[in-house]
Amino acid sequence: MPEFAARVSRARTEGAFGVLEKAARLEAQGRSIVHLEIGQPDFPTPEHIVEAGCKALRDGYTRYGPAGGLPVLREAIAEHIGETRGIDVSPEEVVVTPGAKPIIFFSALALLDEGDEMVYADPGFPIYDSVAALAGATPVPVPIREENDFVLRAEDFLERVTPRTKLLLINTPHNPTGGVLSREDVEAIAQIAMERGITVLSDEVYSRILYEGEHVSFASIPGMKAHTILLDGFSKTYCMTGWRLGYAVTTREIAKVFELLQVNSNSCTASAVQMAGVAALRGPQDCVDRMVAEFDRRRRFIVEGVNNLPGWSCRMPRGAFYLFCNVKQLGMEVVELRDRLLDEAGVATMHGTDFGVFGEGYMRVSYATSIEQLEEGLRRIAEWCERL
Ligand SMILES: Cc1ncc(COP(=O)(O)O)c(C=O)c1O
Repeated sequence: MPEFAARVSRARTEGAFGVLEKAARLEAQGRSIVHLEIGQPDFPTPEHIVEAGCKALRDGYTRYGPAGGLPVLREAIAEHIGETRGIDVSPEEVVVTPGAKPIIFFSALALLDEGDEMVYADPGFPIYDSVAALAGATPVPVPIREENDFVLRAEDFLERVTPRTKLLLINTPHNPTGGVLSREDVEAIAQIAMERGITVLSDEVYSRILYEGEHVSFASIPGMKAHTILLDGFSKTYCMTGWRLGYAVTTREIAKVFELLQVNSNSCTASAVQMAGVAALRGPQDCVDRMVAEFDRRRRFIVEGVNNLPGWSCRMPRGAFYLFCNVKQLGMEVVELRDRLLDEAGVATMHGTDFGVFGEGYMRVSYATSIEQLEEGLRRIAEWCERL
């Protein structure tokens, strides 16, 4: 075995992949598993998008393209973000990547030196603190609390800001809690970032999966566009997790550095996949509306079901497709609860601490699955809890 670079030991993985793997092993042994761990829509990619991808392959989009993305997709994204966020965006401010995730990695590499600090909401997407640590920086968690409706408070952020804070990583609508920042929240946080010269990486991959209120982007706050890396993608909105297509909208200077990092890693994003992305943004949007309406139906169903489980409770999430369930009454560590639910009840879930230390006492349940599966999952958990 080679001697690995020290940085590798600072990286961590996403627990969801481990749970999925274990669930698949149990299924291969003939066990029936209800999947409530998965963070991807269970619907197929809309047909017109699949068709556009296939056509692009037949039309010869099979070669390398520009590192920052095909001009036609950069234009479509600039138009889409311009319209949905109410700002002017030029194609040079857009960088297309294989999934949204590389933008998180590129941001850490581009902006964090050793000893710098990155503030992020905890619980949050597991990769945030991992990439900051990989870059040699210090990840600084800000707790987001159930009693604040799982929304990051400006004063809690301010308390953690130091002269070394370079980046704030924030996500709305929020994985794993379904919390959504209001305009006032975004304005208050943006004000601090602008005063202190902190760049905000605004993860908006769930921007279209919103059940109430409005989605407010950091980039839309006057003066903030120059301080923002807006991250969005196609995985969740258009059921395209396996296609790998995402993007950043940011300043031209940051976009140039991201292009350089792209040349040094992926070279470019698959050309035919990008053409499918053009069809997604410029084609009919009723597929997105239908998906969100179905998630909404499931959301109401599962919230009621979870609140009837002994020892479990949860808030009504306002966006994304997750519940962050309070299981403190069960008095069990959440890793043990996750394992026992999978082994003994046949239900795959995620333990809250996979999303950070402040996730202790919580389980993430994804409702990106059918009502029938949700019903069966609830039935199994209820039976298991009664046997405790
Ligand atoms: C909050 C958040 N950001 C980013 C991503 C990455 O998405 P992509 O599939 O576009 O890389 C995910 C995926 O689960 C996510 O939940």
